[in-house]
Amino acid sequence: MTDTRWTRKDLLAISDLGKEEIEFILTTAASFKEVLGREIKKVPSLRGKTVVNLFFEPSTRTRTSFELAAKRLSADVVNITTSGSSVSKGESLLDMAKNIEALQANIIIIRHPSSGAPYFLARSLKQSSVMNAGDGTHEHPSQGLLDLFTIIEKKGSIAGLKVVIVGDILHSRVARSDIHGLSKMGAEIHIVGPPTMLPSFIPQWKVKSHFNLDEAVVGADVIILLRLQLERQARATHGFPTPPKGTTVVGHVTPAKGAQRGNFFPTIREYAKLYGLNEERIKKANKDLLVMHPGPINRGVEITSEVADGLSSVILDQVTNGIAVRMALLYLLSGQTDG
Ligand code: CP
Repeated sequence: MTDTRWTRKDLLAISDLGKEEIEFILTTAASFKEVLGREIKKVPSLRGKTVVNLFFEPSTRTRTSFELAAKRLSADVVNITTSGSSVSKGESLLDMAKNIEALQANIIIIRHPSSGAPYFLARSLKQSSVMNAGDGTHEHPSQGLLDLFTIIEKKGSIAGLKVVIVGDILHSRVARSDIHGLSKMGAEIHIVGPPTMLPSFIPQWKVKSHFNLDEAVVGADVIILLRLQLERQARATHGFPTPPKGTTVVGHVTPAKGAQRGNFFPTIREYAKLYGLNEERIKKANKDLLVMHPGPINRGVEITSEVADGLSSVILDQVTNGIAVRMALLYLLSGQTDG
């Protein structure tokens, strides 16, 4: 374990972190992974502390693993979702958060559709720590950290690895967190997707961009696939006409209720043909390739079932590692909160 001290009240983005802080989190996570291998997977580190999960968007992995992480650390955990809260009665985000702070929450974990919402809370709350569990298209730092943890666990280190990130980079908060984390850890980062889904500010990042997946995957050590962020594409194209009633949705991807697919690609079938990872394509990568995906996966779109369930896939290892990484984050943040 490095000797770096943790001084942050909040964890909002990997872009805020230095390399030593990232390494400190990952080393702390490794010691919690050891705890999770024991028969009794519980330590008293957060006994008497309260953790609140405040989710304004759907989640399976992140919410559940933050809850499990908090419980493994012996914290009290409360889950709040928009539908069951007083947001439906008109309460603002700030009023809600101040009330949760008044209930003596030590850590508030927030997922919100607006980029920057966790920063707003972190500035406004003096006692409770804020943990970003995904904000709009900005960042998803705990996902980025668990991705780094999984790569190091499987490969030993990240420096010099060729990592290819595929898909809807423009709308992906996971891509942003991964790019910031991987570049700080010395990876060679490639992004690939349709021109409409690669951000125009790419030159600011130290990444190589491609439109052709077959070329991009040659010699890859790690391929990270992304889901088409249909709900965010719909937000980005206000006024895009609703498909006529009865329109057939091609492929397995159905936009969330109320969402409309933006005009970022012609059809799901064409996207899958050009940017879906299949067994033919992974033959072009290095033989000890890691295939990663933050989930939820859309089989037959960005990834075939053969690859998702194949020997290169570490998708479920990512999910398991999420608990240890989130235990580390809660543990470190709890050191900065009062009673
Ligand atoms: N990776 C991820 O954020 O998954 P959930 O949306 O299920 O939390």
